[in-house]
Amino acid sequence: MTVEASHQKILILFAHPAIHKSRVNRELIKPLQNIEGITFHDLYETYPNFYIDIKKEQKLLMQHDVIVMMHPFYWYSLPSILKEWLDLVLEHGFAYGNDGSVLNTKKLISVITTAGSHHSYQSTGSNRYTILQLLAPLMQTAFLCQLEYLPPFVIHDTLHLTSEDIAKHTQDLEKILLALRDDNIDFAKVKSSSYLNTDLSAILKLSS
Ligand SMILES: Cc1cc2nc3c(=O)[nH]c(=O)nc-3n(C[C@H](O)[C@H](O)[C@H](O)COP(=O)(O)O)c2cc1C
Repeated sequence: MTVEASHQKILILFAHPAIHKSRVNRELIKPLQNIEGITFHDLYETYPNFYIDIKKEQKLLMQHDVIVMMHPFYWYSLPSILKEWLDLVLEHGFAYGNDGSVLNTKKLISVITTAGSHHSYQSTGSNRYTILQLLAPLMQTAFLCQLEYLPPFVIHDTLHLTSEDIAKHTQDLEKILLALRDDNIDFAKVKSSSYLNTDLSAILKLSS
């Protein structure tokens, strides 16, 4: 795939504070490091002291069309560096407010792993709220910044996943990112799915 042939540029903002202890994300990210049209950006690796380079991050945002926030779910939310990134990078006048509309043609997607099962993230489950309900602050942030927030790619029950399950999720994530890059996604169907990875065959225009 040449640069010219790719349509959408994808920026993955990856945040895992203890990748050496990771079982799932460590595998998920392996194929994503060197794909044409996809920039893999490891925030904890780049900013071990949390001194985020705001201008560099804003430039990266402007150079990409689809922003992917990829992380384990921590306390029903983001690992702290992603919150720091949001606090510093989405400045007034850049991301929102007067003249702050540079993000308005872009999409935002979360890729999340959770120890909790799918069932636990229901009103009747132990976590009481759905993932989408818990993502409301991020969805509203996207709305304020005129970013289109697509349904998240969610992997539940991480402690019980077999290595085959993890390999399947890794393949699915790569397929979806490639399809996003190449405009091979049916967005009408995506918008009616609860998760981006609920049914790949329904949303991918070309199966590979
Ligand atoms: C500080 C911390 C907070 C966590 N909070 C949650 C949580 O709110 N909900 C949940 O389902 N899992 C939670 N977990 C479990 C992680 O999401 C889970 O271990 C991770 O997604 C597994 O991916 P990994 O193998 O790449 O680390 C938490 C784990 C840690 C260390």
